[in-house]
Amino acid sequence: MALSLHEHGYYHPTVYDLIFGAPLHPGRVAAVAALGIGPGDQVLEVGTGTALTAALYPRACRVTAVDLSASMLRRAKARVVRRGLTHVRLLASDATHLTFADASFDRVLAPYVISVVPDPLQALREMRRVCRPGGRIVILNHFRSARPLMADVERALSPLTRHIGFRADVDLPPLLEAAGLRTVRIQKVNWPPIWSAVTCARD
Ligand SMILES: C[S@@+](CC[C@H](N)C(=O)[O-])C[C@H]1O[C@@H](n2cnc3c(N)ncnc32)[C@H](O)[C@@H]1O
Repeated sequence: MALSLHEHGYYHPTVYDLIFGAPLHPGRVAAVAALGIGPGDQVLEVGTGTALTAALYPRACRVTAVDLSASMLRRAKARVVRRGLTHVRLLASDATHLTFADASFDRVLAPYVISVVPDPLQALREMRRVCRPGGRIVILNHFRSARPLMADVERALSPLTRHIGFRADVDLPPLLEAAGLRTVRIQKVNWPPIWSAVTCARD
């Protein structure tokens, strides 16, 4: 059977893990560290996919991890059960219409999802809404380069990368400004270091 990244609406879970599991993992580690999770914190992870980040959370916090894809969530569930991650619960939810009350979470993480959702600004607004004032939001993603030549290349490639499910030319500063998020720190992650873990304060 031929496997495509886009099977089941978004990605085929097994193929996804093989291609994007290990190479993008240093970024997940840096992003969870950047959340600065304290004991008892309520953490939301948006677009958890197959829960590749789940084992990185401290056991003393409570994690709600959401995704839109049933097949990704099935593989996520198997991983969470296999690893005994009882502090992580998985739910089906749309990043652009989160089913949580305002200020429900202390920390919010979006690992490699902002360039995948059709409306990144709406997803960021929802993440801000459900994060309590004084909380922290970390966005892990590839963003359009600040270097003009590189940015042109990314813009040119974006119509192609959309075929495998993501945009290569997401422009971060205007998005964060429109979403009302203040950048605290940007760390370059992975190899090559063309991804960023962006820590934002929810004022
Ligand atoms: C590139 S994968 C990232 C998976 C995982 N976070 C990781 O670290 O590899 C993007 C994930 O976002 C999910 N996704 C896409 N649109 C979404 C939406 N509107 N709401 C929630 N999840 C969404 C996809 O199903 C997919 O699992």
